[in-house]
Amino acid sequence: MKNRINELLEEINQMVASNQEELETLRIKYLSKKGQISELFNDFRNVANEEKREVGQLLNELKNSAQDKINDLKEAFSSSATVESKMDLTRSADPIKLGTRHPLSLVKNEIIDIFSRIGFTITEGPEIEDDWHVFGALNFPPEHPARDMQDTFFIEQNPDVLLRTHTSSVQSRVMAHKKPPIRMLFPGRVFRNEAISYRAHCFFHQVEGLYIDKDVSFADLKQALIYFAKEMFGENTEIRLRPSYFPFTEPSAEMDISCNICGGKGCPFCKHTGWVEILGCGMVDPNVLENCGIDSKIYSGYAFGMGVERITNLKYQVKDLRMFSENDVRFLEQFESAY
Ligand code: PHE
Repeated sequence: MKNRINELLEEINQMVASNQEELETLRIKYLSKKGQISELFNDFRNVANEEKREVGQLLNELKNSAQDKINDLKEAFSSSATVESKMDLTRSADPIKLGTRHPLSLVKNEIIDIFSRIGFTITEGPEIEDDWHVFGALNFPPEHPARDMQDTFFIEQNPDVLLRTHTSSVQSRVMAHKKPPIRMLFPGRVFRNEAISYRAHCFFHQVEGLYIDKDVSFADLKQALIYFAKEMFGENTEIRLRPSYFPFTEPSAEMDISCNICGGKGCPFCKHTGWVEILGCGMVDPNVLENCGIDSKIYSGYAFGMGVERITNLKYQVKDLRMFSENDVRFLEQFESAY
């Protein structure tokens, strides 16, 4: 009898069940009326009197252990412990694949960051514009070629509705509504009716800057641009301002920086000149100030506009403009940054 009790105790200790049904089978096997433990209780009659006390105790212990074990297993099923016991909590989590910022956004954000350190704030204007804000207010004569159908996307039914060809349109909007001092950046997308190739696209991005206050001079413009070029392309970067023409600035200039691909020695990117053009700029034409309701005898200002694609090409040496809008993840994944 004692041997049989020990045998069963052993069996019960090792009992496992992976679901409710298996557990019920075990309960029936040991604890039901016809179960093995109940049978032992029936046999208890035949135990010699002097052993009854000891065997009785063992038998009770066996029954309690069986009951406890079954309860334990049952609890494991009903609590979340089951789920956890099947999980390996020490396993490291699947890595979450983070997206990367678009290279044009990285560069745009960097430009904004550099100018915000010298007090520029940001605003935006509409991409679908009217003739006045894109051309008229900005001193474009009616016959100016930039208004030509070849450059500008017009809406056929209404030639006064067009896609802006430059972010300078935001200059006219801001000046018409805001009193100087104005020190702002206008980032945005612009559209020109050009054949798509590795170096031209029908849309691209610009960041425009406008500073209007009393006594703003060309020297202020030049200082801001030198500061920008060195922050963007490194301390050793040099700039060169070439006289140019824009209807809305007088005097006007185009700014080149020393080619940061060859360090100014000459390479195919800078067409062996050592310089690359990155922006247009100038002093806001007094006519433009007056067109927008700002007294040109009191206020003066400067403006500049740069192509984000151009600067991104220089920074990351992307040779084909079309890459920026093809959404090829193999290209996009290569850009990671805090910006
Ligand atoms: N809007 C001009 C362009 O698109 C750039 C520019 C901006 C020039 C501001 C002067 C001042 O080419």
